[in-house]
Amino acid sequence: MTAGVQHNMRVISTNEEMSQACREAVKPIGLVPTMGALHAGHLSLVDQARADNLTVAVSIFVNPTQFGDKADLEKYPRDLEGDLEMLRRHGVDLVYSPTVEEVYPEGFDTWVNVGPLADKLEGRHRPGHFRGVATVVSKLFNVMSPNRAYFGQKDGQQTVVIQQLVRDLDMGVEVVVMPTVREQDGLAMSSRNIQLSPEQRQAAPVVYRALCESHQLWMGGERNGDALRAAAQAILQAESQVDSIDYVSVANMTALDELDQVEGRAMVSAAVHMRAVRLIDNIVLR
Ligand code: PAF
Repeated sequence: MTAGVQHNMRVISTNEEMSQACREAVKPIGLVPTMGALHAGHLSLVDQARADNLTVAVSIFVNPTQFGDKADLEKYPRDLEGDLEMLRRHGVDLVYSPTVEEVYPEGFDTWVNVGPLADKLEGRHRPGHFRGVATVVSKLFNVMSPNRAYFGQKDGQQTVVIQQLVRDLDMGVEVVVMPTVREQDGLAMSSRNIQLSPEQRQAAPVVYRALCESHQLWMGGERNGDALRAAAQAILQAESQVDSIDYVSVANMTALDELDQVEGRAMVSAAVHMRAVRLIDNIVLR
């Protein structure tokens, strides 16, 4: 949709009204689940959903159950008015923006646990994170019954976990994964980037540079997992703005097991801390 064209978009905050709107909507429905503070990465998902479906729904919900750290949840950026304006310009039909009480009412106690996949990489450093993601995504799918749902490759493990969830629970939703959208200097777009200080922001593309180093080696024929991990690790360690490295991984894309030798598709991923900001990124070797 052309920027500037205003669109009749409904913003709904209750399960009941959203379910009814989706029942009445023309199918197929494409859903883009988000936690708001939208950027060009989210908008690429919205645009793809617009191209593929007759109804486009976006959820905006900062899901407390996927945050381990209360302070992290509290400082997560929020800008509902700005988000709605962007979504209107991108031709979205339905926005679901519930309160925490609407999603997790008093007495809520049913959780969706994806197997060992969810305990690796991000899951190891953020215990319970994927239980929160899988639970809220299941609830969003139940409320909206989308035909397709759109996620960014930036959260690489999340896309694998959600594909497993959808397959295991016969959800009948087609999961569409879209490429990571990057700033000009390579930094993967993320709602958290605005939390970076100017010095950290300048240094932050180091994460992508580190992954690219590993990718370059792989392109040159290197298949040893340790060598590929070490190359990325060395670049991250050389950057003084990186305070700690949670992991550098070269894993397969089914079980996310670390690889000794890369054969077939693999994901190189990393997570680092720059003071209070945690950055993640990945590149798929294919
Ligand atoms: O990727 C995100 O923004 C969130 O993890 C999601 C999928 C919206 C669930 O809260």
